[in-house]
Amino acid sequence: MAESPRKESVPKTVQELVINGEQLPPENYIHKDSDRGVLDVPLVEIPVVDLALLTSLPTRREELEKLRSALSTWGCFQAINHGITHSFLDKVREVTKQFFDLPMAVKRKYSREVDSIEGYGNDMILSKQQTLDWTDRLYLTVNPQHQRRLKFWPESPEAFRDILDDYTIKLEIITEVVLKAMARSLNLEDGCFLEHYGKRATMTARFNYYPKCPRPDLVLGVKPHADGSVITILLQDKEVEGLQFQKDNQWFRVPIISEALLINVGDQAEIMSNGIFKSPVHRVVTNSERERITLAVFCIPESEIEIEPVDGLVNESTPRLYKKMKNYVDIYFQYYQQGKRPIDAAKI
Ligand code: OGA
Ligand code: NI
Repeated sequence: MAESPRKESVPKTVQELVINGEQLPPENYIHKDSDRGVLDVPLVEIPVVDLALLTSLPTRREELEKLRSALSTWGCFQAINHGITHSFLDKVREVTKQFFDLPMAVKRKYSREVDSIEGYGNDMILSKQQTLDWTDRLYLTVNPQHQRRLKFWPESPEAFRDILDDYTIKLEIITEVVLKAMARSLNLEDGCFLEHYGKRATMTARFNYYPKCPRPDLVLGVKPHADGSVITILLQDKEVEGLQFQKDNQWFRVPIISEALLINVGDQAEIMSNGIFKSPVHRVVTNSERERITLAVFCIPESEIEIEPVDGLVNESTPRLYKKMKNYVDIYFQYYQQGKRPIDAAKI
């Protein structure tokens, strides 16, 4: 009988490389250009925005102004008073850590397929020149509910699924508050970003595990990128830093506020705001002392909705800077794979 063609297998996870204890990371993880992980960049005090003050009449003008200013300079802010208790955030962190601590054979039950990002694994290898990220992930679609692929949702730790479900519901509320406030901060109708986002919007959760890395000077946890979302809500590790944002060609490290959610705008909010809000370029550096775990949730418009700069922001004196786009995430991945900035596809 003829042998069936050998299926390409999912590559080794970063955790497996670490377990092997090699001192020099494999060649395809090493950045050869100058753009590798510099750890001692200046710290930036990302603006802190109190979500409760955003919606309360006596305080909201001032807080909205803080939000507008944060998003048009850094493209991100630390959200506090977001309605999720500190202890619940710790639970989310705890089940995430418990999952990554499971034996490899158990995690492998949730492995992504070779040609899809959903599930457990690391970077898809798309070209020989690609430099890989020093991170393993669990990538799950959490909304809309009917698109959940439960075969990738861990059953261990036991509380994992319920906690993720609960967290999703809480983030839906936060997303609505933030999108409304973003509109209001620009003196627009409350619902104008929300309309472009849609009622059946997609939310994807990416649990990121960054193992200790023997050569943080040569390897990045995540290479520089901007997100393809409208907004991204990041739960940072409670103790270990690693995230850096770029502004005016300089890198800045982000401090940890353990009870805060770090919210950044993605390319689609830059498009909708006609460039007023900046989708920031960011990266993750590794370190040799401690592992780091984060959870990024990407909020993405309903796939049938076309996005474009909202009406109120385009007029004779301020021309529209971006085209109408549909399914931006698909375009995003095509560009990203070619090492180009996806937002350039949308620019007029
Ligand atoms: C991402 C990301 C940052 C982090 O997943 O897109 O930028 O600190 N993550 O894990
Ligand atoms: Ni990102």
